[in-house]
Amino acid sequence: MNENHDAEFPIDWEEDNYISRREFFKFMTLASGGLAVGSVGMALWTAVSRRERRFEPLRLGTVAALTKKGSHEFQYPRPHDLCLLIARNDGSFVAFSRRCTHLSCPVEYQPQRDRLYCPCHNGAFSARDGSVLQGPPPHPLPQIMIDVRGGEVYAVGVRTPEDA
Ligand code: FES
Repeated sequence: MNENHDAEFPIDWEEDNYISRREFFKFMTLASGGLAVGSVGMALWTAVSRRERRFEPLRLGTVAALTKKGSHEFQYPRPHDLCLLIARNDGSFVAFSRRCTHLSCPVEYQPQRDRLYCPCHNGAFSARDGSVLQGPPPHPLPQIMIDVRGGEVYAVGVRTPEDA
């Protein structure tokens, strides 16, 4: 090593390692902000991906035929996932899993009471939004996401209730 190195390249090491308080707090603020934004983003992504899952669309029928029928049973997204589509009086459609959230008995649609009834333990869910009306079910029914296009009705995904 060149003996004149220190003379040729004078470095004040104490000065070189010095980070001002302002720089330190600026760094910490940026790092904290980045972590906070990342955490919120991850939480939102996890929540949304858990609550809404899209599957291959399944054609259920024409708007006219399903409206006339009133309700329509189907399987979605797997062959053994029993579901029920309900044509509402306002012309819209809602659909739910038929699996009771208590012990998985299949629920039955009772249009006169606007509800889905579970005969196993006298549970009932709203036919509007799947919320629990009575009995032991701990959560609302999972909702089947419906898409209407070109006069046809499709099942396109499953929305799991927030508290499930
Ligand atoms: S299985 Fe439906 S209320 Fe128990």
